[in-house]
Amino acid sequence: MSTLESTQEAIRLIQASGRISAFSGAGISTEAGIPDFRSPSGMWQDPDLVEQLSLSAFRDSPEQFYRASIGLFRTIARAEPTPAHRLLARLEEAGKLDAVVTQNIDGLHQKAGSRKVFEVHGTYRTGHCPQCGGAFDMDPFYRAIESGRLKVPLCSRCRVPVKPDIVLFEELLPEDAWKGAVGAMEQCDLLLVLGSSLVVYPAAELPSIALASGARMVLVNLDPTVYDRSAVVVRDRLGNFAEAALAALR
Ligand code: OAD
Repeated sequence: MSTLESTQEAIRLIQASGRISAFSGAGISTEAGIPDFRSPSGMWQDPDLVEQLSLSAFRDSPEQFYRASIGLFRTIARAEPTPAHRLLARLEEAGKLDAVVTQNIDGLHQKAGSRKVFEVHGTYRTGHCPQCGGAFDMDPFYRAIESGRLKVPLCSRCRVPVKPDIVLFEELLPEDAWKGAVGAMEQCDLLLVLGSSLVVYPAAELPSIALASGARMVLVNLDPTVYDRSAVVVRDRLGNFAEAALAALR
């Protein structure tokens, strides 16, 4: 199938479906200026960052953790949703899409207007004190770190370093988000998989739950994935695909 044909087939499936779920990865946010992980310009090219994004690195030196990650957090804070984020919000508004499951921590689905979002790898926007469990809005901390006024956010009660609610290496996935994600896979008749290499488990298991429940799958991604044989694959930039879909759904 040509890109044009697969795009048209994907749009036809979206038009015909009333119970869509979406599963997004870092590729949906690259056009917002946030790097993905595994592309040649992805974050995993920076060994320093890989090393810092683990629970043990955070515990060993929260200061180093924040020094390595603050650039990413501030890039995310300044980013705006892409047409693909807007497409999903529009489908939810139209009553066709039930839920977005995302591996992204950037909050761009919510910024675009999506209401039901399951963040299986957490979010950078909030944090918790590992000692008392107190919750924090991280934005003021990030601003202070970026401007050099602060090195490590501390819990106002315990004075121990606050950890952002992102899933680091060595951590489990948030239980509520995972349950919601599984439900979204089981209930949909069409799954839109957008911008993920689908190599990180357990998240990459989720599309197989939708397939086992009888859903069709549309997969928009620049690189091949292990699910390509089970989906209508659109090998194009998500911006192109989303603009075409938004125009067709108008
Ligand atoms: P990856 O970086 O592994 O994959 C992103 C995919 O998006 C790649 O296959 C690209 O081809 C594709 N892509 C990039 N830009 C695109 C565009 N404009 N249009 C279409 N496709 C595009 O990112 P994820 O699959 O999200 O986990 O990675 C999964 C997990 O790996 C992340 O959530 C993170 C990481 O370890 C944690 O941090 C827990």
